[in-house]
Amino acid sequence: MARLLVLMSALAGMMLAGVAWLVPAQASDPGKTIFARKAIMWSMGAHMSGIKAGMAAKNGKLISAHARAIAALSPAFASLFPKGTETGKTRAKPEIWQQMDKFRAAADVLQTEAGALAKVAESGDMARTGVQFGKTAKLGCGGCHSVFRAPKK
Ligand code: HEC
Repeated sequence: MARLLVLMSALAGMMLAGVAWLVPAQASDPGKTIFARKAIMWSMGAHMSGIKAGMAAKNGKLISAHARAIAALSPAFASLFPKGTETGKTRAKPEIWQQMDKFRAAADVLQTEAGALAKVAESGDMARTGVQFGKTAKLGCGGCHSVFRAPKK
């Protein structure tokens, strides 16, 4: 099962890499790009739920598989915010396009923290895994949302 999850995560990463490659610097259909990035963000939330389930079951392999999926998807984030997708059904703040380097750095933090989570979960140390999960959520997800995501309209 864990092996299947790893495979699925790898496939999801490959598919996303394809999506990112197809998204041009200037969005030709902003609505579709906004839809795609929201779907990926939603899947981030689902992976975090998977990690919580893994912690409840003390299943390091399950946690690690979800953490690796998050780390694999993070580098594609910046490509999902091309120029032309600033408005519409989106909570993306204008700061993303004003400070793209900072936005990329925030995605890097998530990649690093999720990668660290995958490693510590594999070690089977659930106490340290819990601490690293907190860091992934707070510094990784929260670090970007607090700066670059607008409150719900
Ligand atoms: C580099 C910045 C960044 C990081 C890191 C990041 N997000 Fe997001 N997230 C955003 C932005 C910006 C939006 C708003 C997107 C929009 O509305 O177009 C968003 C939206 C969301 C949404 C709402 C999607 C919807 O359907 O409207 C969820 C859920 C979410 N993020 C979960 C997560 C989780 C969980 C993590 C960490 C594992 C994470 N995000 C990491 C920037 C980030």
